[in-house]
Amino acid sequence: MIDLRSDTVTKPSDAMRAAMAAAAVGDDVYGEDPTVNALEARTADILGKEAAVFVPTGTMSNQIGIRIHTQPGDLALVEGSAHIVANEGGGAAAISGVSIRPLRGVRGVFTPDDVDAAVGVAHPYKPTTLSPPPRLLCVENTHNAGGGTLWPLDTLLAVCEAGRLHGLSLHLDGARLWHAAAASGLSERQLAEPFDTVNVCFSKGLGAPVGSALAGSRGLIGRARRFKQQLGGGMRQAGVLAAAALFALEHHRSELGDDIRRAKRLAEGLAALAGVDIDPADVQSNIVRFSVTAGTAADFAERCHGAGVHMIPGGARGVRAVLHRDISDSDVTTALAAIEAAWSRIPASA
Ligand SMILES: Cc1ncc(COP(=O)(O)O)c(C=O)c1O
Repeated sequence: MIDLRSDTVTKPSDAMRAAMAAAAVGDDVYGEDPTVNALEARTADILGKEAAVFVPTGTMSNQIGIRIHTQPGDLALVEGSAHIVANEGGGAAAISGVSIRPLRGVRGVFTPDDVDAAVGVAHPYKPTTLSPPPRLLCVENTHNAGGGTLWPLDTLLAVCEAGRLHGLSLHLDGARLWHAAAASGLSERQLAEPFDTVNVCFSKGLGAPVGSALAGSRGLIGRARRFKQQLGGGMRQAGVLAAAALFALEHHRSELGDDIRRAKRLAEGLAALAGVDIDPADVQSNIVRFSVTAGTAADFAERCHGAGVHMIPGGARGVRAVLHRDISDSDVTTALAAIEAAWSRIPASA
C-alpha cells in the first residue's frame, strides 16, 4: 500500500530507533531529562526564541498556546478551516473558555483587512463591554486544509502588524513550518519572528513517531509548562522520544525538499487525468488537494485504495494526498499508474 493519507504515517528508521535506544534520559517532570532539554534548546534556537517546551502533540501545543495568551471569555481570531478550529475537538472553548471568530481565508491565507474587520471599530456610542475582548490572532503555516499553502512573507508580516495594532497576541501553528521554510527558502526563524508563540511538530514529515514543541519567550514558556502539566502532558523519561525528534531535526529536515518536489510531480500527473481537477501551481509544499469532477471523492478514494493507493476523501469531491519520507520517486510513479487505472474504470457520466 502506498500510504498518502498523511505525513504522520512515517515509521521511525533503524537509525532513528538506534538514537532513541541510546538516549540519555531522566525524569522530565523534574526538568532532568538531558535529551529533552537538548531538544528544547535546539528547537528554540532554530526558531529564534528564548525557550521551548516539548509536548506530546501539536494539538496540546496549540491549546497551551491559546491558554497562555487568554482568559475565559476572550476572543481568538483564527482562519475558519484552520486545524485549531476544525480538528482540535473544540479545545479553545473547553480548555480556555475562549470563543473563536473564524476569518475567511483564501486557501488559508487572510489579509490585514480581515483582521481589522473581525476586531471591529470601537465607537463611544457602543459600550466596550458588549463584545468578547479580542486577545489572540492565530496563523497556520503551511496551511493544511488550504492545501499546504505557504504564507507570502509580506502578507504574513502585514497580518501580524495588524494584529499588533489591535493589541493582539500572535500564535503560529507551524506544525509544518519546516515545509514552509524548505519551500520558500526562508528560515524557520524568519517565519517565526513576528509571533509570540510557535507550535512545531516533529511527527509530521520530519519522521519522528511522537512530539511537538511550543516556543516563545522564557516567561511564556514557563507559563506553558504549568498548563502542560495541568493537561496531563508531563512525561517522565521522555528523552527516548526527544531523541527521535532531535534525530529528525538533524537528519531529516534538510530532505523535505524531496517531498515537495514529489508532491508537484504527483499533482502534474493527476492534472493529466480526465475527471480530476487540480492546478499543479497551487501545490506549494507536500500536501496535494484535488477534486474529482465525476463520481464522488469517497468512491475515488475507495477505488484507489483497492488499487494500492491510500488517500483521504474530504467532502463530496475533495481528496487529499500527502507526500512524506516513506514515499519514494518510484512510489509516485506507481501511485499515478494505479490511480489512472482505478479511475479510468469510472464511467465519465457518473
Ligand atoms: C496544521 C496542524 N496543526 C496541528 C496539528 C495537530 O498535531 P497532532 O496530530 O500532533 O495533535 C496538525 C495535525 O495534523 C496539523 O495539521
